Amino acid sequence: MKFNENFAKLNESYLFAGIAAKVRTFKQAHPREDVVSLGIGDVTRPLTPAVICEMQAAAHDMAAEDTFHGYGPEQGYAFLREAIVRHYATKGVTLHEDEIFVGDGAKSDLGNMPELFGRCSVLLPDPVYPAYRDVNVMAGNRVYFAPGGKRNGFKPMPPSKGRFDIIYLCSPSNPTGAVYTREELKVWVDYALATGAVIFFDAAYEAFVSDRSLPTSVYEIEGAKECAVEFCSFSKSAGFTGMRCGWTVVPFGIASGTLNRMWLRRQTTKFNGASYVVQRAAAASLGKQGEYENRKNVEYYMTNARIMHDALTAAHIWHTGGVNSPYVWMQCPKGMTSWEYFDLLLEKAAVVGTPGVGFGKRGEGYFRLTAFGNAEKTARAISRLVDVTLSLKDSHTAPEHR
Ligand code: MLT
Repeated sequence: MKFNENFAKLNESYLFAGIAAKVRTFKQAHPREDVVSLGIGDVTRPLTPAVICEMQAAAHDMAAEDTFHGYGPEQGYAFLREAIVRHYATKGVTLHEDEIFVGDGAKSDLGNMPELFGRCSVLLPDPVYPAYRDVNVMAGNRVYFAPGGKRNGFKPMPPSKGRFDIIYLCSPSNPTGAVYTREELKVWVDYALATGAVIFFDAAYEAFVSDRSLPTSVYEIEGAKECAVEFCSFSKSAGFTGMRCGWTVVPFGIASGTLNRMWLRRQTTKFNGASYVVQRAAAASLGKQGEYENRKNVEYYMTNARIMHDALTAAHIWHTGGVNSPYVWMQCPKGMTSWEYFDLLLEKAAVVGTPGVGFGKRGEGYFRLTAFGNAEKTARAISRLVDVTLSLKDSHTAPEHR
């Protein structure tokens, strides 16, 4: 038998699956422990009333012969694509509905779209959301990294040498919570235009940006419609992690519409669309009431982020993110590796986070916390995390950790 040899180059398990397995083992051994997860960024707030009502109405449609919906348009129903166009208009961005493709979440499209480029070279930030890296390793693509670190605020900028077919950017960043300014994004857009690259811009966390001076779509930057595809998701803003719906913008301006036509061809062949009920729910989440309810949930998570941010600040633990982003990125104490700190926290505080090294080499020595949790549990977890961390600090703490 012959299989894709590139799979042998991957880590044994996907980051979050590996963590879940470790936590399961710990819980089996310590059934009474109150384990709190600040690990995977899975939302905890239930779906909002506007979404539930619309889903119920859509379910009724499916129950009657004259309103039943079978296969839908592969690109998504017009009512949802029009709602997405209106969503962009609020940012001053004009799009055509045929530039929008509704899918089952940003992750699938971010993983599927490289196939339009054949075997290609890909530039990723390091640290990076591991799915970007893994899908390109699976495809046998040449993967390069733009290093992030304290020095550039975990916002890698274009390298001075090299040319890449695809550049992945995520802002606000998963995992570091860093957000590119307009000026910084403009540098990337100009670089992509000058070198013939296409930017894959992951905007899944756009709803968490409250600083209006920061861009929430790459299309707020001049020239981006000629070089950038944008991926977005209902998962975090509308609580759709278990519903599965997102969208991808493939502007007509990229290679005179070639990429848009290729993606349409690919989707009509390999994808039958997100379900009617879910798309109705997604459209409701972009309506006036839905947006209001989403904002309340975002505020809830951002309160969690502030609680973590304040607790770490008070304890003089170096961290970033958590301001215009639901992720807090902290430095592990005493020069510990990310996995050492993960094990310590699980054992001594019953708190789960995500080891930074799981996001790349440059994530070693860092640790990611998520704000997508229950408020009381988050407060409890961060207080235990700080206690355990401070108990280690004493005189051994390296000065740069502060
Ligand atoms: C994360 O924790 O990084 C995200 O929840 C994963 C995802 O969105 O797929």
